[in-house]
Order: sequence, then structure tokens, then C-alpha cells
Amino acid sequence: MLSQSIIDKYNKPAPRYTSYPPANFFTENFTGEEYRQMVIGSNDQDPQHISVYIHIPFCQRLCYYCGCNSMLLRKGDQVENYISHLKKEIRMGLALLDKGRKISQIHYGGGTPTFLAVEIIRDLNELILSEFECIENPEIAIECHPGYMDEKYWDELTKAGFTRISIGIQDFNTDVLKAANRKASLMPVKDVIGILRDRNISVNMDFIFGLPLQTISSFTKTIEEAVELKPDRLVTFSYAHVPWVNQLQKKLEKVGLPAVGEKEGMYEKAKAILRNAGYESVGMDHFVLPDDELFKAQVSGELHRNFQGYCTRRTTGQVYAFGTTGISQLASAYSQNVKDIATYMAMIDNDSFPVLRGYSLSEDECIRREVIAQLMCNYTLRWSGLASKLSLSADRIKAALIYNEDMLRELSDDGIIYFSSDSITVLPQAAPFVRNVAASMDPLLVGSDKQFSKSI
Ligand SMILES: C[S@@+](CC[C@H](N)C(=O)[O-])C[C@H]1O[C@@H](n2cnc3c(N)ncnc32)[C@H](O)[C@@H]1O
Ligand code: SF4
Repeated sequence: MLSQSIIDKYNKPAPRYTSYPPANFFTENFTGEEYRQMVIGSNDQDPQHISVYIHIPFCQRLCYYCGCNSMLLRKGDQVENYISHLKKEIRMGLALLDKGRKISQIHYGGGTPTFLAVEIIRDLNELILSEFECIENPEIAIECHPGYMDEKYWDELTKAGFTRISIGIQDFNTDVLKAANRKASLMPVKDVIGILRDRNISVNMDFIFGLPLQTISSFTKTIEEAVELKPDRLVTFSYAHVPWVNQLQKKLEKVGLPAVGEKEGMYEKAKAILRNAGYESVGMDHFVLPDDELFKAQVSGELHRNFQGYCTRRTTGQVYAFGTTGISQLASAYSQNVKDIATYMAMIDNDSFPVLRGYSLSEDECIRREVIAQLMCNYTLRWSGLASKLSLSADRIKAALIYNEDMLRELSDDGIIYFSSDSITVLPQAAPFVRNVAASMDPLLVGSDKQFSKSI
């Protein structure tokens, strides 16, 4: 266990590094035309597989903690209009991709994709899948809000082509949900899992720790209840408090957020329960069964992460995102769509890609992205291994970073990392601080005024 003073020393704001550079470094100089050129160029770059992300921004009600790009739906015809523009954007984007490429992933996120009628979701899946072949066992996944899904909906969803379904539980404690303005599952979760298992669909469950009214003991009960249900994967997100992004989060401050030590305790206890129940931890916040391909990839040091979450060498692809705020992740560029629905639709009506901002990576930044992704996913990196993977010398890789042995020694003396001339490993007790370790090597943060959430 780390001492409280070490926890305080490292519990500092740092990027989550779901992308490199982090999304708040993207610039508005990046245009839709540049994106079109980058997409055409991506056909000749690795990874070759196509990963499609579809963003559905609507929600029935807004949870106060939400850090996602979501909005309350006001008018019914807005959905129809959005979907017809989304389909046009998908056609425009997919038309630029070589037909010989294969789809490895499709992911529906939001907002709440299950806000849509199942027929609409099935149509979208068919539109994408009719254009390309898939790899064997692609991952076709959707995020679901169980608060609004009845038995008929769940049943129909299982026939729409999904291989994995994520259920947003967040907490089983109804007082916690109520304080966060969230509805609990309409159906008993056990029955939902029964329906999904009958159709051979993998089950993910999402939880958040660090919300008002949660305590170590209440969260322990929630995780114990989850373990009884035996999901294939379970994600425990650390609540990211970013009231400068989402004003609604200020309402949670009024109820009172758990202290840092209590929050850290929730994570540690949850991890212990899950370990005891046979789950292995993957990356920062995922827990999976030992035969899961994500765990096997982590053991062999080949875990990847893109905006869809963790993936393996088999499923990883360049990400082509559609819908408001969607972020495409190409071999050497990121591009994010506009947030406002009216602007999104007007740009598509104009035959333009609805790009708000993006980033073209320099050679140094592509190197840093590899280093940081390796550390964030696998908690360890070997300079010689990276050097052979990137066909560069270890010195060239270090030159793209802030590589300072005094700083690494301090991290090592504080019990955060182990390092040698060829490696850096984040120690298990310091796992939540992996992003601070990555940040310490990141030249982009020097003198930056960007805001980030704290690591715990
Ligand atoms: C788009 S939502 C999932 C789908 C659906 N809208 C729902 O709420 O069930 C994605 C996930 O992000 C997580 N999340 C949202 N806001 C968060 C925050 N501020 N900090 C950490 N995790 C958060 C939640 O666990 C949520 O399930
Ligand atoms: S957590 Fe899900 S349902 Fe709640 S506001 Fe965010 S996207 Fe919408």
C-alpha cells in the first residue's frame, strides 16, 4: 500500500490518454477536406482493419455525473432527421475505404444508443456490414441503458447482430442512482443476462465509483452482487469530476463527493473481490475472466486501446467515427465531429464531412503515442522491444520524450515504478498513477494550461 503522503503527491490532474495527444489538444485548423485526404491515405496505413464507431447523442434523462457527449431529446422528429444524416455520413465515409479491407469492430456509444428503436439500429448495422467483409468473429458492440429497456426490446436487440452488449449499471444501490438522477434497470439484471446468454452474446457491465452516497461498504455490496451475475467483463470507472465540461456535475458537489481515501478504498476493495472471484484486471479499469482475449493480450504485452476501449492485435483497426462528437482515430491523424446537431446536419447537407477539429501527428508524436499506449495498456515497456517494433533505435524513441533518469529515480524511490536501463514498469499498488507516469514523459504538457481530472 502507498502511504497517504505519496497518494497526495501523485493524485494530480493528468490526461487519461485515451488518445495521444489528448482530445483537448485537437485544433480547429483541421478541416473536413483534410479529413477526407487522411481517410484516403489511411487505406495504405496500418492497422488495416476497419473499426466503426457510431455516436447516438440522445438520452431520456441526464445523469448528473455524466462525462459523455449526451443531450436530452426534445422533439421526436429530431431523431429521424439525425439518423438520415448519420446514414449519409456513413455512406460518404465508407465510400473512401478500399473494398478489400475488413471490419473488425463496430461500436455504438453515446449518449444512449438504445434510445433508438431496434429496427433503426439493425438498419445501421446492415448498412455498414453490406459494404465490407468482416474478420472472423468481429466485435459488434452496443452500450445499453437498462433503465428503459423492457423484455421485448432486449429480445429484439439480441437479433440485431451484436456479439457483445454493455449494460450501464453504475451502481445497484438505488439511493446512489437517485442522487445521480439515474433510473435503475427496468428488468431484473439477472433476467437480462439470461436473455443475452441464451443468444451467446458476451456481457459487459459498467460501474462508477466515487459518486455521492457511495461508501466502501455500499460499493462492496454492489460489486458482490455483480460477481453473482458473472458478467464476462466488468468495468469500474473512476468517477471523473470535470464540472468545467459538464455543469450538472456541480449538483453532485452539493450532495458531497466521497473523500479521496474512501474512493481509493472502493477501488481496492472492488479489485480484491473481483480477484477472489477469478477475474483478472486488464488495463486501468477492466476486469475479465482468465480465458478472455484481452487478458491473454495483456499477458503477452500486446494489448491495444482505441476510442472503443481495449482491443487486441486481432481486433484493432483504424477507427472511422460517425455522428456528432465522434472521434476518428487514423494511423496519423485524429478528427472529431461537431457537437451541435443542427450544424452537423447542415454540413452533411452540404456534402462536407462535419469536422469540428482534429490533429495531424508529427513523427515524434507518433512515437510518443506508441510509448504512452504501451505503458497505459500494459503497465510496462521495454525500450528494446519498442525499438524493434518501430524499427527505430531506443535513443531515437527516448529523444521524442522527456526521458530524465532523475525523475524516474524519484518515481522509483516513491514506490510508483521499477525501472532499469531497458524497461519501466508501473508497480501494482501504483496502478491508478500510470497516467501520471506517462504524463511525466510527455513534452506536450510542459507549460500547457489544459485541464484534466485527477488520477483517483
Ligand atoms: C455513454 S455511457 C453508457 C450508455 C448509457 N448512456 C448508460 O448510461 O448506461 C458510457 C459509460 O461512461 C461512464 N461514465 C459516464 N460519465 C462518467 C464520468 N464522469 N466518470 C467516469 N465514468 C463515466 C459510465 O459508466 C457509462 O456507462
Ligand atoms: S451516463 Fe448514459 S444515460 Fe446518463 S447522461 Fe450519460 S450518456 Fe446519458
